[in-house]
Amino acid sequence: MRLVVASRNQHKIAEIQAILGQVAGLEIAALDGYAAPEIIEDADTFLGNASKKALETARQLGEIVLADDSGLMVDALGGAPGVYSARYAGEGASSEQLCSLLLRNLKDVPPERRTARFVTVLVVANPEKILYTAEGYCEGLIIEERRGTRDFGYDPVFYYPPLGKTFAELPSDVKNQHSHRYRALQDLLTQLKPK
Ligand code: IMP
Repeated sequence: MRLVVASRNQHKIAEIQAILGQVAGLEIAALDGYAAPEIIEDADTFLGNASKKALETARQLGEIVLADDSGLMVDALGGAPGVYSARYAGEGASSEQLCSLLLRNLKDVPPERRTARFVTVLVVANPEKILYTAEGYCEGLIIEERRGTRDFGYDPVFYYPPLGKTFAELPSDVKNQHSHRYRALQDLLTQLKPK
């Protein structure tokens, strides 16, 4: 089976290749070379967005496509920023802007109520239908100031208790062994591997 990853993010593609490359007979292809227009992520769930991206891209390419949608859910904010994670502080906001707004909105929330989780939903579809769905979660706490230098998204304020550090303080290979994306890929891997 050939699986085209609906992303132009080289890090994401490498991570997917490293994990799903273990499945015999599965070829992972990047979107490079395909003229696939951007899909508007306007659903109100991660599953809705990932399904839309997988199905629309599969139809445009005539291929089997893997799409993902991720974000951060903060309990004290009723699950926000959720599917709006990338746009929470406006279109194209920096990690610093995202973290600052989140910290402002959690200003009066005490440490024990600052629980949060990163979520990834993966969908594999052919042009007709969804073939597989998988999900992964990573539980943590939103601390009160940014820590660490790897400033992707909410990583500087997401404290991961099992390793005692924020995601921005961890080397990327360590983060990638614990992340929501890694766990979702493991879920998909168990579904794709022959029993
Ligand atoms: P995407 O669906 O993977 O593009 O993620 C949407 C948004 O969620 C990103 O733009 C980030 O703001 C946030 N996000 C997703 N995964 C992570 C992560 O591992 N660390 C920090 N922020 C993340």
